[in-house]
Amino acid sequence: MILSANVLTLLCQQYSHEIANSLFYALLQSWAEMRGLDGTAAYMAHQSTHERGHADMILGYIHDRNEQLTLAGLDLPPASPASFVDLFVMAQARERLTTDMIAEICTQADAEGDWLTRAWLMQPAGLAMEQIEEERTTQTILDRIAARRGMVPLDASDIADMAEMPGNIVHDIDCWIKGLA
Ligand SMILES: [Fe+2]
Ligand SMILES: [Fe+2]
Repeated sequence: MILSANVLTLLCQQYSHEIANSLFYALLQSWAEMRGLDGTAAYMAHQSTHERGHADMILGYIHDRNEQLTLAGLDLPPASPASFVDLFVMAQARERLTTDMIAEICTQADAEGDWLTRAWLMQPAGLAMEQIEEERTTQTILDRIAARRGMVPLDASDIADMAEMPGNIVHDIDCWIKGLA
């Protein structure tokens, strides 16, 4: 069974997306680094490396299936974070987008009866299963921020309020995030 042109195109797009994710987390790392938020910077650096690993997994699979990478544009994140809480709101949105893109590859593979690609996506610690942890970790951080601010459950207006967070709370959460990296 060879990879179809459609599935190959989606895999190549996903490769670019995971590289863009790596750059995205480097951007968040840099924001945190410049504000003395060492724990958050370390966490974002770890995520950046992790995303590079996802890209490498995809490239390995493309090669295993005897195909070659082609590149289109990079979907870079548009802006720098506006606040500490925005780092994690942006990260959560990015991870959800990534999950949706992986679902699209899976749907295409299913439609074509490409069970090998489906099995590859669904393997333990594979691209699809990784997203459960990726989304959960980001949500856990947002929940922690909300709990520390007495805003549980968190809603959109709370996020706007949290743009201005007392420095001691940011520092506490930054120390806690250090343990996640
Ligand atoms: Fe990823
Ligand atoms: Fe991710």
